[in-house]
Amino acid sequence: MISIIVGTNRKNALSASIAAYYQQLLKDKNVESQIINLTDLPADFTATALYENNGKNQGFNRLRQSFKEQEKFVFIIPEYNGSYPGVLKAFIDGLDYPSGLQGKKCALVGISTGVQGASIALSHFTDVLHYLGMHVLALKVKMGEIHRYLKENQLTSKVYNEMLHLQADQLIKF
Ligand SMILES: Cc1cc2nc3c(=O)[nH]c(=O)nc-3n(C[C@H](O)[C@H](O)[C@H](O)COP(=O)(O)O)c2cc1C
Repeated sequence: MISIIVGTNRKNALSASIAAYYQQLLKDKNVESQIINLTDLPADFTATALYENNGKNQGFNRLRQSFKEQEKFVFIIPEYNGSYPGVLKAFIDGLDYPSGLQGKKCALVGISTGVQGASIALSHFTDVLHYLGMHVLALKVKMGEIHRYLKENQLTSKVYNEMLHLQADQLIKF
């Protein structure tokens, strides 16, 4: 089972469409997956689930538990202000410390309206994951100008499709 994380809680985010696209791609390879969408985080979780409130927010606990039970992940990371979304860091800050991610494995996909495909965001996020002991697949897929290539939930770029397939194959063996 692979868990695909939508790395933002923005409603109607393109990251969610890419997560669904990745899930179908894995299904075509006979690999089971689930989507964990940060839109499912309780709206008040930064005030009710972190630090001294650790464990007190049942909605947050459910999401954290479904994360904890899994070993392999795909993070879909949108570029926000030259990095990854703050809500994703807040979610990670609410996981078990020192590390609820130690020894787990993941692949990263970056998307952006600009041309960088969240390249710097993926580097920032990789630093955090490595600090926490997570293994990050070397092949990171960066999809710039995503709005031009995502039409009716289909990815029209041949290169982006090839990269996603290659990454998924590597992740399955990782
Ligand atoms: C708060 C915020 C900051 C953003 N900053 C950037 C940015 O620095 N560079 C960029 O190319 N796109 C930026 N975008 C646009 C996103 O890349 C765009 O919304 C894209 O569709 C991926 O994000 P989504 O999953 O929220 O749709 C930003 C969007 C938001 C909501």
